[in-house]
Amino acid sequence: MKKQSLVSLAFTSLLAAAVLAGCGTGNQPGTGQPAGTPQSGQASGGTKVLNMATSADYKPYEFHDLSSGKDEIVGFDVDIANYIGKKLGYEVKVTDMNFDGLVPALQTNRADFVMAGMTPTPDREKNVDFSTIYYDAKNTIVTKKESSLTKPEQLAGKKIAVQLGSIQESAAKELATSTAPGLQITSLNKTGEIVEEVKTGRVDAAILEDTVAKGFVESNPGLQYTTIQSDEKNGSAIAFPKGSPHVEEFNKVIKEMQENGEMDKLIKKWFGQ
Ligand code: ARG
Repeated sequence: MKKQSLVSLAFTSLLAAAVLAGCGTGNQPGTGQPAGTPQSGQASGGTKVLNMATSADYKPYEFHDLSSGKDEIVGFDVDIANYIGKKLGYEVKVTDMNFDGLVPALQTNRADFVMAGMTPTPDREKNVDFSTIYYDAKNTIVTKKESSLTKPEQLAGKKIAVQLGSIQESAAKELATSTAPGLQITSLNKTGEIVEEVKTGRVDAAILEDTVAKGFVESNPGLQYTTIQSDEKNGSAIAFPKGSPHVEEFNKVIKEMQENGEMDKLIKKWFGQ
């Protein structure tokens, strides 16, 4: 084959790839979405892309890992997403945003799914669809070591920090109108900021999930956490835009992972249990 035809062949396949890229299942031509809006499409290798949104401040669920010299979002949720993606033939692209922006990102189709240690709640279920729950968690009170604050009712009149838009924020609001009157709530975007507030003493305590609190306490020896006794479990599930075609296929793979030991393997890897 002559050199010239090789070049034109390469050009033709490039064109074909570009055309294909416009035809991904999740693409919505004519929706007036601005260019560059992430949405599912076709990756260069022909694999379909699913955009996952998260709030990467939630070790070990999702966090920025800089140890390799580059900034990578890794964690339990990311591993699950990649496993499911691989099983179903999708490449998963992860975008970091603030936690309270995640549901809106689904509602405007800027993400195909959210994995962020997110708990299905009746309120959220009005706006998004959830997969089955893949992991359970409990709330804890995080304080400085010298603090004797360990029970929700002791929070009356105290200052507390929680994540904006989280169920911990709702729990704090609930406490303020019930067992802990006078509770002052500071809502922040990232969990790192919340822990910083506790460390500097600008707040008396924070409410965080057990596994996340454990990690923060391990890396900040001046802190402690106490699990809040409650029958309520805060499971994590994957969230999708309402009516998403992906819920069912994701649920199938979650079930598979629970049966074939893959989920336990990842729980051991990230939570060490
Ligand atoms: N489970 C809690 C919720 O759904 C908190 C999740 C926070 N996740 C995060 N990636 N920061 O509200």
